[in-house]
Amino acid sequence: MAHLSGKGSLKGADIADSELLTSPAGKGIVIEDGIIVKIDDSKVLEDEYGRENIHRSKLDNLKCKIYSLNGKAIIPGLVDAHTHLLWSGDRSREVSWRQQGHSYSDIASMGGGIVSTVEATRNSTQAELIELGYKRLRSAFRNGSTHLEVKSGYGLSTESELKLIAAANELSKMNHLPSIDQTWLGAHATPKGYSRSDYVEEILSEQLPAVLEQGLARSADVFCEPGWFTIEESEDILKQSKDGGLDLRMHIDEFTDGGGGDLAAELAVTSADHSHYTSTDARMKMEESGVNCGFLPGTPYSMGEQWPDFNEVTEQQFTWSVATDFNPNCQTLSLPFIASILVQRCAVSPLAALVACSRNPAQTTPHPSGARHGVIEEGAVANLNVVDGPWWQAWCQQPGDSPFHATMLEGDLIFH
Ligand code: NIG
Ligand code: FE
Repeated sequence: MAHLSGKGSLKGADIADSELLTSPAGKGIVIEDGIIVKIDDSKVLEDEYGRENIHRSKLDNLKCKIYSLNGKAIIPGLVDAHTHLLWSGDRSREVSWRQQGHSYSDIASMGGGIVSTVEATRNSTQAELIELGYKRLRSAFRNGSTHLEVKSGYGLSTESELKLIAAANELSKMNHLPSIDQTWLGAHATPKGYSRSDYVEEILSEQLPAVLEQGLARSADVFCEPGWFTIEESEDILKQSKDGGLDLRMHIDEFTDGGGGDLAAELAVTSADHSHYTSTDARMKMEESGVNCGFLPGTPYSMGEQWPDFNEVTEQQFTWSVATDFNPNCQTLSLPFIASILVQRCAVSPLAALVACSRNPAQTTPHPSGARHGVIEEGAVANLNVVDGPWWQAWCQQPGDSPFHATMLEGDLIFH
């Protein structure tokens, strides 16, 4: 059992310290009302709660189910802390443009990129977006994610950004799907027909107030990158969002070091993601300000770029996590696949990869119950994955398929 007990993020050598984080086989977990209430040796728990004692036990009057997992390993429910879940359309042809040597900004000016997804998304009804979202959340769940951070950002008008947030809110009420934490990303690109300064003005005077009034987004995010939103524009939007009570996240340094890391540190945002070209100096400032570095290796995987040096950030004691960044260019909602990039291509240990997909991202995106998640310990949400075999390391070594036999969601065990 990969156990992951304790509070807060793990960094440096602790992220892969199995003494601290894994338990041998033979443990049992008692769950009540979706929360882990006790972890002990199976034998001890059998004596206390086991079949033969069940009528005499303190669970006497409760409905009680006992699952024997026959030695299969357990890891925490995975936490995907950066997704663009809801959008319509198809940008698959852009892979050929990339192979012909066109850059991300070339593709945007050729009629592809974010703005083309915006057109398709605006033309979709809320019901169509919910249907797409449902299918995608099922895929995330099959791959072990029990909680997702979900960004808007493919509407780019007040009406369509609110539609995306409302659609995600409907999905968050459905049974047997991962829980959702919503982020408003109105500053994802400049929509057609606007200058960037006019759009920023509209964001500040109209879109953000409408999002605050709607009251469904918990955080704000900005694509702070040369060619998209400048440091000054990002600062204005993020500061006003904070004043409105939103938590802050950022997209920084995806293609070049644009100085977003310094701003992330100055504003002490919760997570600064991509962060692939951020300087060591800016990363140090981020660490001092408590900013999580949210790497998104699926994006360089699909865009043909380099992965960051994960071992360097570990040596430097920086706090980091990974996420799928599900979007039209990077169409995976499988954290086991993202982790296989880390483990099988970047020399990250399976345990460090697991911490980066569970405990650490969970610090940036709270579970709606208010209980801790991304860990297996007393008091945490009973979100668990049952690996289809005895070794927990299998969780990140089946990149093309789900490695899980079953997933427990707030105490309900669902077989895949
Ligand atoms: O995080 N970089 C900004 N946003 C998305 C991709 C957007 C798109 O190309 O549609 C990301 O990778
Ligand atoms: Fe993103």
